Amino acid sequence: MTQHQAYRASILHFTADPAFNDDAYAWHEDGLLVIEDGRVKAAGDHAQLHKDLPQGTVVHDYRGKLIVPGFIDTHVHYPQTDMIASPAPGLLPWLDTYTFPTERKFDDPEHAHDVARFFLDELLRCGTTTAMVYCTVHPNSVNAFFGESHKRNLRMVAGKVLMDRNCPEFLCDTAEGGVRQSEELINTWHKHGRQLYAITPRFAPTSTVAQLQLAGELARAYPDTFLQTHVAENTDEVAWVKSLFPESRSYLDVYDRYGMMRPRAMYAHCIWLDDHDRARMRETQSAASICPTSNLFLGSGLFDFQRADEAQVPMSLATDVGGGTSFSMLQTMNEVYKVARMGGTYLPALRMFYMATLGGARSMQLEGTIGNFAPGVEADFVVLDPQATPLLARRTARTESLEELLFALALLGDDRTVAATYSGGKRVHLRGESGAEKSS
Ligand code: GUN
Ligand code: ZN
Repeated sequence: MTQHQAYRASILHFTADPAFNDDAYAWHEDGLLVIEDGRVKAAGDHAQLHKDLPQGTVVHDYRGKLIVPGFIDTHVHYPQTDMIASPAPGLLPWLDTYTFPTERKFDDPEHAHDVARFFLDELLRCGTTTAMVYCTVHPNSVNAFFGESHKRNLRMVAGKVLMDRNCPEFLCDTAEGGVRQSEELINTWHKHGRQLYAITPRFAPTSTVAQLQLAGELARAYPDTFLQTHVAENTDEVAWVKSLFPESRSYLDVYDRYGMMRPRAMYAHCIWLDDHDRARMRETQSAASICPTSNLFLGSGLFDFQRADEAQVPMSLATDVGGGTSFSMLQTMNEVYKVARMGGTYLPALRMFYMATLGGARSMQLEGTIGNFAPGVEADFVVLDPQATPLLARRTARTESLEELLFALALLGDDRTVAATYSGGKRVHLRGESGAEKSS
């Protein structure tokens, strides 16, 4: 039987990038979002839509709150949840001291399930309904993650880390073995329900040429899978890549050579790129995942918005937990605003909300599936509360435009600002209740 639900609130969603289009978003101050069988049926003014609601539609009253599409975090490591906020003098010592020992524990499937459950609950508490997720080198870390995600019917992208050199032996796979395991996981999980697979070479220094080559071949054999890796995050890392791959023009060129630049390929950080690299990103429709809390925390550098915009690099926002210091995409907007500011770029709040929703979906070639409220799109959305804290309530009572309201939510908001989260039309988080859905 067809199920209809409707949600009354202020509604915002995007149809284009507001940086390049005047008519990029829809704003309905007294709006209605109508859901049919887990997908968007309509989003518009309450006055217009409420007259034509199908009989039996339940109308949920969220007046005073703001509904936006679920946030999309395009780069995050679920196994690093338990080591968030671990200090080190830069990326490479941080990997050796904290990351690798933490990831070792994922050879235990029970541990992997336990962390995956906490991680997904935390994403939903923060209003993130889709993420592109690193697992560990262990295939069972992927089975645990997708198992928990599938149980919750979440739209998630994830993959097994490939690394066959320059890492502790307990995390090392082999070129052939790692790619064979990845192919098995693709066959098990890719497009299983809402799950999507990402081929995941950790970063160039931890893969042999043989592994990169095979990963590139796998990406060609399964063109609708995703691919995720790190690039040009830290100057020591860039120098290391230069010494390991002297024949490559640049760090990004290592991936280019092995056929890893293509639509659905996501590159985390992209700080130390040059203009040639940026042009290749655009030509190949590979996308940058910008990770401001991580880049500031690890002292990696500042993403260059001006150059990226000039080159029209596809861009998205990401937390990069555990290098990142917050699961909240609102906190991530807060930090990216300041990073852009330091580079002389002004990021309007409208653009930050675009990047965290439709921008993320577009960078992953998932427009039409997630990211806005066009008819037929999966009903993943967040209810934001402008009165979530005394300070937010006081500030938002004084905002005089949509931009000012969004800016206050981005700069002052966090998980407390998320009153509820819905995935596939079902409530999966309600602030004040712990764990997943109790009732809807
Ligand atoms: N580069 C290689 N591995 C990692 C990782 O786990 N986190 C970050 N931030 N950068 C990396
Ligand atoms: Zn990362």
